Amino acid sequence: MKYIAVILVMLLGIVSCTNSVVPNLDLIPNPDNMDFENKYSKIKQLSFPSENFIDQYKPWLKTLEMSCTFDQSSSNVKIQLDNTLPVHGYRLKISDQSIEMNLQNERDFRNAMVSLYQIWQLNDNKLVLGTLSDQAEFDYRGMHLDVCRHFFPVSDVKKYIDYLCFYKYSKFHWHLTEDQGWRIEIKKYPKLQEVAAYRNETLIGHYNDQPHQFDGKRYGGYYTQEEIKEVVAYAKARGIDVIPEIEMPGHAQAAIAAYPALGCENKPIEVATKWGVFSDVYCPTEETFQFLEDVLDEVVELFPYEMIHIGGDECPKEAWKKSSFCQNLIREKNLKDEHGLQSYFIGRMGDYLKTKGKTIIGWDEILEGGLNEGSIVMSWRGTQGGIDAAKEGHRVIMTPGSHCYFDHYQSPSPSEPVAIGGLTTVRDVYHYEVIPAELNQEEAPLVWGAQGNVWTEYMKDFNRVEYMALARMTALSEVLFNPLESRNYTTYQDRLATHTNYWKKKMVNIADHQLNVQIQAEVEKGQGPKAKVQCERQAAEYFCINPEGTIISVENQSFPLTKSGVYAFYAELNEQVGGTEIIDFMNHLGTKASIELKTSPSESYPASGSTALINGVKGSDEKYGGSEWMGFSGDDFEAIIEWEESQELSEIQLRFFDGEGQWIYLPSQVELYVSDNGETYEHVETKSVDPASKKVITSKIPVNKKAKYVKVIARNHGMIAEGKQGAGHIAWLFVDEIVIN
Ligand code: ACM
Repeated sequence: MKYIAVILVMLLGIVSCTNSVVPNLDLIPNPDNMDFENKYSKIKQLSFPSENFIDQYKPWLKTLEMSCTFDQSSSNVKIQLDNTLPVHGYRLKISDQSIEMNLQNERDFRNAMVSLYQIWQLNDNKLVLGTLSDQAEFDYRGMHLDVCRHFFPVSDVKKYIDYLCFYKYSKFHWHLTEDQGWRIEIKKYPKLQEVAAYRNETLIGHYNDQPHQFDGKRYGGYYTQEEIKEVVAYAKARGIDVIPEIEMPGHAQAAIAAYPALGCENKPIEVATKWGVFSDVYCPTEETFQFLEDVLDEVVELFPYEMIHIGGDECPKEAWKKSSFCQNLIREKNLKDEHGLQSYFIGRMGDYLKTKGKTIIGWDEILEGGLNEGSIVMSWRGTQGGIDAAKEGHRVIMTPGSHCYFDHYQSPSPSEPVAIGGLTTVRDVYHYEVIPAELNQEEAPLVWGAQGNVWTEYMKDFNRVEYMALARMTALSEVLFNPLESRNYTTYQDRLATHTNYWKKKMVNIADHQLNVQIQAEVEKGQGPKAKVQCERQAAEYFCINPEGTIISVENQSFPLTKSGVYAFYAELNEQVGGTEIIDFMNHLGTKASIELKTSPSESYPASGSTALINGVKGSDEKYGGSEWMGFSGDDFEAIIEWEESQELSEIQLRFFDGEGQWIYLPSQVELYVSDNGETYEHVETKSVDPASKKVITSKIPVNKKAKYVKVIARNHGMIAEGKQGAGHIAWLFVDEIVIN
């Protein structure tokens, strides 16, 4: 018996030994070339030669979950500078006892080292035998963080920099001043710390939720200059340059709250407590320029990198239009208008920073009214700013909302936490073509790179920042390393799944949407309603838990909905199960009909098409929009519902959304007609809608007739009354499921 046990253990040992060598090489970004064996290196620790440039990285290397020593005599990492490699290129050869690292430039050490580190981390602290070579496509690989709308302590900022490093980013754009808070200590101006760094309270919920509500809690904080230096040094050790942003001339309400003379009206104002764009902006007086020069004098001492971001976006011009000082200045300087004044402002600050050896970066509005040579433009309002800037010979950084705003929703799921709006999925980011097609061969090289932006209005804590930023950061990193034609979304998805598991094990809150199903109830004429099921992973299998609780495989991504009740759907791939979505289906007569709209919904609120109104699924009671609620801007709603054959109808229930704050009103009246030929209609009922509103009203109308057609008309509320939000505009009308029994 004992011998059998020993033999069994030996056999198991052999089996597990041969099985154990399945190296994981799921690197992000995907290296250009990899040639690895199914064998691990014997290296247990890295020993670096005492090259001077390694000193910069030592504080980082010492923190890695990988033993690193620095000893010339015993070094097992051989580093060679090799100018035959392409720009930003490196090559790694991992052998049994040593590593060869060829770098085009010393700066490429960080990327080579991160590749080693990813292999080490993904293989239970082992390196795999083989070679790897890679090259970044773009030099500027940036991530931005807004620490003003919400403030994150140094420990969080360092974590953020760790993520940037892990995905081989080269630039950290630190957004430090805003209407809602000033976050960098400026010793010459103590009120920036005492006043501008704190707001009295903060908006609760989404900005679009009216009326606005506030939490009543003082909020704020700032980084001391010592802390700033600590972060800059931390980033430097990880191969990342820090670019501070000091916003001007707009987004300056916090500074003006501290020093009212910086504004045009010299009136007391508060640090902003809600989001948006504010009309109190810096007045271009000598006093303001002196203040900003003093501020920048301190800033340039803290940030050794050669670039400073001076904002320049979203500066309303009302205050300058009203100010006699500004109007005189426009005349005196022979400027065209307030845009010319903005250009004068930016130009003057650019000139000042030039004397300090710094180049300015600004949001694409800095192009308006002309821009100094050498300034760099960040294209955020789409790509046009980048195109115009490059055509004028400026270097550009692409960061269009469509692909680079990581404050947008990343999934259409109704269960997503509140975000600013929009929808920019991992897939969208991954397929971003950085160089606009409008640029020719001479202009294209002016595109220096791209950047992901993380505005934090709706990110109260760092957990949420991780959730919003990290998954999309992996996609953008691959964009910045690999041109579109050499990217592979399918292998990226597999690699992302590996990285997602990696971060989850480290308790990092990475968003995980790739296996989450999206479901849509659909109705096709002559066929019963069906749930269309899909997710991002092509190879996924789908399952439904039907109202009886039975698990059924979903074929062809389509599942028939036959009886009322809750249907839950989920996807599975490689033993991973994605998030579940449910449909609460109502089996009513409408789901077997067809529908024709006689009035057109707004392009912004089309629901999932006309059948959304008869698909057996109600929209949310809380949120309008989405795939179920259909919105009409100023128009009536009129629809005709038709069956193959006459039906016995007992009652019809209509749903409307009531959201006065968003200009959405209940209809003034509802009319119902039936017909057997679709030409002559019999009036059934005209009902005025009870304006004693709840958020969603439902109106049940008895019918008790047999008919083949039903016509529904809902009359728009009309003009919004004085004193209400949207007064003087015509109301919106939102319609949901027409339940017919
Ligand atoms: C921006 O998003 N206002 C640059």
